[in-house]
Amino acid sequence: MAAPQTSDFNTDLPDYDRMPKLLSGQTALVTGGNSGIGEAVAIAMAKAGADVVVNYVAGTADHVVAAIEREGRKALAVKADVSQEDQVVAMVAKAIETFGTLDIMVANAGLQRDAALTEMTKAQWDTVIGVNLTGQFLCAREAAKEFKRRGVRREVSVAAGKIICMSSVHEVIPWAGHVNYASSKGGIQMMMKSLAQELAPHRIRANAIGPGAVRTPINTSAWNTPQAYASLMTLVPYRRIGEPQDIANVAVFLASDMADYINGITIFVDGGMTCYPGFATGG
Ligand code: BGC
Repeated sequence: MAAPQTSDFNTDLPDYDRMPKLLSGQTALVTGGNSGIGEAVAIAMAKAGADVVVNYVAGTADHVVAAIEREGRKALAVKADVSQEDQVVAMVAKAIETFGTLDIMVANAGLQRDAALTEMTKAQWDTVIGVNLTGQFLCAREAAKEFKRRGVRREVSVAAGKIICMSSVHEVIPWAGHVNYASSKGGIQMMMKSLAQELAPHRIRANAIGPGAVRTPINTSAWNTPQAYASLMTLVPYRRIGEPQDIANVAVFLASDMADYINGITIFVDGGMTCYPGFATGG
């Protein structure tokens, strides 16, 4: 029997509105929450019952705030560059001042500045490490301070706080032409594991999500033509691109008590990209 073609599949996803209210009474902060994966995560947190602080650095977050309010939840947009310590400190303080406390930190904001190694400027290196790695460190640190101070609120969760780092398949898959990005994601893995180890006695969980190729503005050129999409599919055994909602579903799960015994791991959400698809026929 011939293998099914990509076109034989649609990208129907589960009915999102049937998601149980796993996060009722909690407050989540999502960095980079006004587009791509962050936007989907912010709205999913609201659908699951959380109030949401939507961080953004460029453009506006009004559309995400409106979507959250349509779910009957409260939303607060906060503009801040996560690579800047004072801005992260002020953002988390504002979140706590507005909602009383914080339960979930989704350190999602990230960017790419691609270049061949010999062309890569220090500015390109610094920007990516600054936002993707230092930014997640600062967000995790500020959230952990509040989680430790407050402790467990049993009425909403058996954990004192949940940190979710947005990593990538490139925390394990090397990526030529993207050494800054892959280094930042490799760094996130070890940062997340180290802080999971350190914070666990306080009943604070830290985990990461490793998305594969997801249909967002960060990688438009990888999916926006039939040729690019077909080429991308050679890297994805499941033969469809990821949608932001695929990542958001896992973020809600990881933030919920359903995942209470999951600590210090990366869940890859990648359609099998980390299964080394080249070896399906080679090797
Ligand atoms: C990158 C995307 C890329 C994907 C798979 C992500 O982390 O941001 O640009 O398409 O990994 O390679």
